[in-house]
Amino acid sequence: MPLFRDVIRKMKPYKPPLEGRSDRDYTLLDFNERTIGTSPEVKEALKNFIDDDRLQVYPEYGTVEREIAGYAEIKDSHVIITNGGDQGIDIICRAHLSNGDKVIIPFPGFAMHYQSAGIQGAEFIEPVYNSKDGSFPLDKVIDLIKHQERIRLVILCNPNNPLGTPIEIDDVKLILEEAKGRDIPVLHDEAYFEFSGITCKDFIDKYDNLYIIRTFSKAFGLVATRVGYVISQDSNLEELLKIRGPYDVNMFAKVAVLAALKDRGYMEDYVNEVMKVSKPKLEGYLKNKGVKFFPSKANFLFLPVDNSEAIIDGLKDQGILVRPKQDPDGHKRVRVGVGTSEDTDALIRALDKIL
Ligand SMILES: Cc1ncc(COP(=O)(O)O)c(C=O)c1O
Repeated sequence: MPLFRDVIRKMKPYKPPLEGRSDRDYTLLDFNERTIGTSPEVKEALKNFIDDDRLQVYPEYGTVEREIAGYAEIKDSHVIITNGGDQGIDIICRAHLSNGDKVIIPFPGFAMHYQSAGIQGAEFIEPVYNSKDGSFPLDKVIDLIKHQERIRLVILCNPNNPLGTPIEIDDVKLILEEAKGRDIPVLHDEAYFEFSGITCKDFIDKYDNLYIIRTFSKAFGLVATRVGYVISQDSNLEELLKIRGPYDVNMFAKVAVLAALKDRGYMEDYVNEVMKVSKPKLEGYLKNKGVKFFPSKANFLFLPVDNSEAIIDGLKDQGILVRPKQDPDGHKRVRVGVGTSEDTDALIRALDKIL
């Protein structure tokens, strides 16, 4: 009798290419992170927390969920804090999926969606995005919800990672409606909300089958503290709290979030620079060069190019990391993060030598 459950033995660990990233040798455009440091107020708050001599005390979350609710413009009771957006995904999968259940994950999707659903022994049903323009396969998803047996969760990544393309909010509503009638929960992943402005938080009161997950890892730049949150109706969150541990979010994360939310302008300035200056500059350059990219609502661009390896290696040689990612047909392409205007200038100079 094997020591481990069958599904675990058959899975592979998710091992993103992290090696060498913590040295400061590279410009990091490979993990969709913020490319410059977080707010000075966050750093100050973290230093004060250490000096306060409270590391020996278990974490308590007190005001932080209320502050997040205020920021997200939702009811206080509609949010719980999690250890990164990843933990939100994980506890939702653990709450709803068992061996042999089916989960709809349109392809390509974010790695942790597959990982968390896979651990539960769920079977992936993967309607594919359009490989010409990266658009969302709405009809296929609706059709699957209507006709497939044993669908127990639908995961929507909006905007999609890695493609960057959005799902129209009216289309999300159609999916929620079809799924609600069949008691199927829908996870709407809004990890890139600050960049895209796309949210279905206004549907929470109407749809008891809706979960939203978000993160402080991206625009706020708090990825090292690992903090995110789930938005849903109170009764759903009560169930999730049976799965999330009482201390899973550490106090550095809480302190960082409270300070970051006080200095929201710092995050907004970065988002404006990325979305209004840096990204249009990169898009203009790519258009000029005749390099295709999908329309993106996030802080990254997906390039459905044939010479992905030459681009990835050529940029790495010049100190810039970008990420190989599969397109809807399974071909290896490139996902490029967009950082500050200065980062984009460096990227353009490097691309010029390759293209
Ligand atoms: C689509 C998507 N969802 C969730 C996350 C989770 O982020 P984290 O666990 O760092 O909060 C990410 C991070 O890359 C992401 O791209």
